[in-house]
Amino acid sequence: MEHTDLLQKIPEPLLRWYDAGARTLPWRENPAPYRVWVSEIMLQQTRVEAVKPYYERFLTALPTVKALAEAPEDLLLKLWEGLGYYNRVRNLQKGAREVMEKFGGEIPASFEDLRSLPGIGDYTAGAIASIAFGIRRPAVDGNVLRVVSRLLCSHEDISDTKVKREIEAAITEILPERVGDFNQSLMELGAMVCLPGGAPKCLCCPLRELCLGYAAGEAIHLPIKSPKKPVRVEKRTLFLLFCGEKAALQKRPERGLLAGMWEPPAAPGTLLEGEARQYLENLGIHAAIITSLPPSRHIFSHVRWEMTAWRVETENETGPFVWIPRQDLREKYALPSAFKAYLPYLQKE
Ligand code: ADE
Repeated sequence: MEHTDLLQKIPEPLLRWYDAGARTLPWRENPAPYRVWVSEIMLQQTRVEAVKPYYERFLTALPTVKALAEAPEDLLLKLWEGLGYYNRVRNLQKGAREVMEKFGGEIPASFEDLRSLPGIGDYTAGAIASIAFGIRRPAVDGNVLRVVSRLLCSHEDISDTKVKREIEAAITEILPERVGDFNQSLMELGAMVCLPGGAPKCLCCPLRELCLGYAAGEAIHLPIKSPKKPVRVEKRTLFLLFCGEKAALQKRPERGLLAGMWEPPAAPGTLLEGEARQYLENLGIHAAIITSLPPSRHIFSHVRWEMTAWRVETENETGPFVWIPRQDLREKYALPSAFKAYLPYLQKE
């Protein structure tokens, strides 16, 4: 990419803008390696605002790599409850165990060693290496790809790995001394100014005068990204099943979507009342009272669940489920955010 001249001009105004007004975020105040690692994993698929309440709570409960390596899984999942993509926290713990075993408990100050840990790809390794250790590596995520495509008025497809590699190489060329701050200033610009969805705030952009996309009136149409594969739709019927003060849950299979997480009993398809009753009878459960609950949906990266639900009261703790006192359900069991719409029914007193 022959754009080094232009890109070379961005660190100075971008850092000036970052110093003047970037958000104060807890991992910026104190960029200790463990803190940065946890923040980058939480931020992988989740917005800064959503991460904030989880972040300090997680670090208070598990303040060191060692504590994380030794944490019981149910605590880990409870601390992550509602953030989604639970494999992130499982990999984080695997990574912590590797740090204990292979690196003597010290998070390695090396891009390659960081990259070798579970759950850490190029972007995350670059972010941790640069922010926590000042190592000269770029951290190019979707936000940065958008910013750079607009700056260069590039119509190349950013879902193409080759294009991403070119942008990484171009950024690497121009990394300034303050590499961690620079990487974060690009992310910050992407999050606060160079917004996606046709809504860039060019008039407050510190790079406006350099931006070829803005000059050409094209910023709003960039980046070009080939469409994702359509998501598969899966219909499910959930049973919020109560017997006195207990509710039924089942554990999901150890592999696949929401592996090993708890969920309410569920049947494939959309069951009408008679079908729902029959389904439960087949499991040995007689529905004394059954009422319908509102439908809801949840989108995972590749599947969309369309859920209907029945609230059922029964008189026997039967069926292939675990019956859990509702207070424990609130305090000890982590339920995936996919079931958010139904949590109030399950958890309430
Ligand atoms: N997204 C990913 N990493 C981030 C960081 N360090 N600051 C703000 N947003 C981010």
